[in-house]
Parts: sequence; C-alpha cells; structure tokens
Amino acid sequence: MVKRTKVKIGPLTIAPPLFLAPMAGLTHSALRQLILDFGGVGLLSTEMLSAARLPSENSVTSPYLITTEREHPLSYQLLIYSTKHVKEALKKIEKLGADLIDINLGCGAPKVIKKGGGRALLKRKNELERIIKEIKEKTELPVTAKIRLGERFDLKALSEKCDFLQGVGLDAIYLHCRLEKEAFCRPPRWKKLPNIKEILGIDIPIIINGGIFGPEEAKEALEITKADGLMIGRGAAIKPWIFKSIRDTLFIKQETSVGPRDIYLPDVFFRFYRYLEKLFPPERQIGRLKEFTHYFSQNYAFGNRLAMSVQRCKDMNEARTVAMEFFRKNEKILQVTAA
Ligand SMILES: Cc1cc2nc3c(=O)[nH]c(=O)nc-3n(C[C@H](O)[C@H](O)[C@H](O)COP(=O)(O)O)c2cc1C
Repeated sequence: MVKRTKVKIGPLTIAPPLFLAPMAGLTHSALRQLILDFGGVGLLSTEMLSAARLPSENSVTSPYLITTEREHPLSYQLLIYSTKHVKEALKKIEKLGADLIDINLGCGAPKVIKKGGGRALLKRKNELERIIKEIKEKTELPVTAKIRLGERFDLKALSEKCDFLQGVGLDAIYLHCRLEKEAFCRPPRWKKLPNIKEILGIDIPIIINGGIFGPEEAKEALEITKADGLMIGRGAAIKPWIFKSIRDTLFIKQETSVGPRDIYLPDVFFRFYRYLEKLFPPERQIGRLKEFTHYFSQNYAFGNRLAMSVQRCKDMNEARTVAMEFFRKNEKILQVTAA
C-alpha cells in the first residue's frame, strides 16, 4: 500500500490522489458517471473548454457542460488565450458548480497554437501571468495547469517552467510526461523523473500523467517519481474501473455501488450507452459512443471489429444491434477481473 493517500490542492482534499485526465470527446458526464459507478477516482474533469465560447454555451443542452449533482469534485479545464475572456468564463463555471479550474498549457493543435493558447500560452509568459493573476483575483477556487515536459528532455528548463507556474500562484501542476511532439503511443518518461519534486525543486503538488493502464504501472510510477498523485486518460476510457482497481490495490480497499469483483463488459458498455441516451440530445450521442468504443473495445482481443462496426453506424439503434452481435459472438471472453 502507498503511504500518501490524499493530496491537498488549495483548500480541496483529493482522496485517493487519482485524477481523471481531461479528454476532448471523452470526459463528458456519461463517462464521468460510469467511472463514479465503480468509484476510486479522486478528481473528475471536463474536456478542454474554450473560455471564449463558454459564456454562450447552453448548459442544459451542451454535451461539454451537461453535468449531474454526483459529479464532484469536478475540475473545469479552460483553453484560454487572453485575459479578456476570464471574467465571463469564470462566472459561467462558478454557476455550474466547478470545484477547481485547470488551464490547458499542453495542447499543440495548430489551431490552438495559432491563437496563442495551449502550449503557446506557456511561452507567452506575461499574458499567462496576467491570466492566472486575474483568475486568482476573481475566484477562490483552486487553479492548476496541465503541461508537457517541453520540446526536449531538459530538466533545468522544466524546473524553471514549474518554478514560474508556482510563482504566479498555481495550486498544483499536472505533468504529462511526454515531450511536446511525442505521440501517445510513445512510452511516457516518468521513469526518468525519480523524486520529481526534489529534482524540479517545487513545493506545490505535482500530479504525473502518461501511460498508466493498471495498478502495476500506477505503483511503479508513484514509487519512482514520488509524485503527489496520478492522472489517467485513455486508461479510464478503456477500463472505467481503473481508478477502483488502483485504489483497491495501492490505497484502500472499498466496496462500491457496482461492486462485483468481476466486470461484465457488455454491462459496462450498455451502462455507458444508457447514460448517453439519458443525458445528451439524440444528435450528440452516436459520435460520443464511437469515441468511447474506440478505447473500450481494446478489452477484447479482436476489439477492432467492435470499434469498426460501431464506427460505421448511423445512429444509436444500429450501434446497439452491432454491439449485441459482437458481444454474442465473443461470449467466452466477457469477464475481466477488476482488481
Ligand atoms: C482523445 C483524447 C483527447 C484529449 N483531450 C485533451 C484535452 O482536452 N485537454 C488536455 O489537457 N489533454 C487532452 N488529452 C491528453 C490527456 O489528458 C492525457 O494527457 C494523455 O492522454 C496522456 O495520458 P494517458 O497516457 O493516461 O492517456 C487528450 C487525449 C486523448 C487521447
């Protein structure tokens, strides 16, 4: 078992220190609720939200903003370019009940970079400092940022970046342990970051992220880096019970509402399917089912067949039929072990 079972981010205590990573098209209310059904997650997250567009987004119908009372603590990740969007974006997310604000300083999409957001904002230090100061002035909520390692593996440069972020008042840093241009299929570099807080010389919590797909990697990553917590992205869409597995193995074993030790994959799939139907307008459901199935199908040896057949579907009914057909044919490998 790991000794540190919680982490404080500003006034918030996150326990266990296991964080859902923001993922566009994936970390909406349906996936967050599915994860909560298994338990084990310390902090949930939205996907990245444009601070410029947030004020005009309809919180009742927008899949980016739909949320339920049980989804707490919940971090809202902002994609922001300028101080001019701070006031209205904060007003909106405070009204929605945000528990924490995260700033995206890692996105490298050309459209985002062109406007000066994501990792480009981390290079526009003066504007970034003004944005963080303004956020801190206007809200009591804790503020974090998510970054990548940088262009090269350069600990001095990384340490300077983290020192700057700590200096401007951030409450924690999420570090995606890949270089800026590294694809997600490349191994993360947390093995090269032993005692991360010491080597970077910072005091605020550091949560590391990248390539955690089960309790073994989680244990290794925490033992090597001694980070304050772990953030999990794709692993949470493949195995929505991953937080429960890690919590039960490394932190503290607990019974949860879904409970059983063995996870029946079709049940998990259709639980997600029903959340989509219940929560989102019909035209917003099938795209999100396709996105999720791309990851969830990896639980099966020939899961690409499931992913591809759902990918071709026009609507949810058709997707249900092809998924049921796939599950019927793959009956022998339906059961996996949660912990
Ligand atoms: C489909 C997808 C969408 C993502 N969207 C975001 C995002 O909105 N904001 C962000 O900071 N990172 C985003 N990421 C990066 C993840 O938060 C995370 O850093 C990355 O997936 C590595 O973690 P993992 O190896 O646990 O998946 C995204 C990743 C994926 C796969």
